[in-house]
Amino acid sequence: MAQLDDLRKQISLVESDLDEGLLGLTDQQTLETFRIEFLGRKGRIARLFKVLGELDADARAEAGRLLNALKDHANTAFDKCRDKLQIVTLEGRITKEKVDLTLPGVYHSLGHLHLLTQVQQEIESIFLRMGFDVATGPEIESEYYNFEALNIPEDHPAREEWDSFYIDGSHLLRPHTSPVQIRVMEQTDPPVRIICPGRCYRRDTQDATHSPVFHQVELLWVEEGLSLANLKYVIELFVREFFGEGYKMRLSGDFFPFTEPSVQVHMRSRGSSDWLELGGAGMVDPAVLTNVGYDPEKVTGFAFGFGVERMAMLRYGIDDIRTFLTNDLRFIEQF
Ligand code: PHE
Repeated sequence: MAQLDDLRKQISLVESDLDEGLLGLTDQQTLETFRIEFLGRKGRIARLFKVLGELDADARAEAGRLLNALKDHANTAFDKCRDKLQIVTLEGRITKEKVDLTLPGVYHSLGHLHLLTQVQQEIESIFLRMGFDVATGPEIESEYYNFEALNIPEDHPAREEWDSFYIDGSHLLRPHTSPVQIRVMEQTDPPVRIICPGRCYRRDTQDATHSPVFHQVELLWVEEGLSLANLKYVIELFVREFFGEGYKMRLSGDFFPFTEPSVQVHMRSRGSSDWLELGGAGMVDPAVLTNVGYDPEKVTGFAFGFGVERMAMLRYGIDDIRTFLTNDLRFIEQF
């Protein structure tokens, strides 16, 4: 009997060690080590079973019942604890990996066309609707197309107006889009109705209204019976389409070797007193028509060359031409 009492004490010791120990467990790993310590093949409970052999028959039956009860208790307690720990781990993961669907998304900004390209495309579409074609020419141009064919002979003082970047003795970065007029007329019989948008280069000192690289849109219409009145009408139509009603236009006398008469076109918004020069225009000089093999007795034509930056500046109230080139996102993203 003394042996049985002793066993009872040991059983209750194991049981309380087990119950207390389980309370303090926080993860599956230590739970498993703890389980082996009690329920393993050589664990504390298995060791108690060894005592059975030393007991007499009566005591053995009672001891067996007690030990089995202990084993059942241990198994249930461990299962419960494992379930509890699994829930705790899961809840931990849920809080850690939680996605807050109400948070604002990450904004990926999409690029868009530069204001100058937008303006150029709009100008093109206005003239395409009026029946003009779009023509282009090289930016590195020969002196012939850039000057001679446009009635600006060598040593003519007017060449200084197109103070140019030379590539070699006879080629230069074109300072205007007028050479495209010549290239197109050489290739086509009249009637000719084109616009030529493109980049131009001049040895200008940079300031708010000048840039060594800028854009022009050239227009050329050659056909029988055209007069300055037609030129004025086309410009007016374009200005109304591009700028809307709130703008005024002014033509004043000017000189270009390739047009006669020549005019300068100015614009201002109704609210403003400052006139901004859009560019030059005029009736194509008969000498230019002759240079491309046209008969100036049969056909007449008119042309203009307008600054694209200037048109954009006027329409959007931009006061410095340099902002087009600096790629400042605060500027670019406004348009
Ligand atoms: N090519 C001239 C310039 O750049 C503008 C112009 C074009 C004038 C066509 C008359 C006719 O200054």
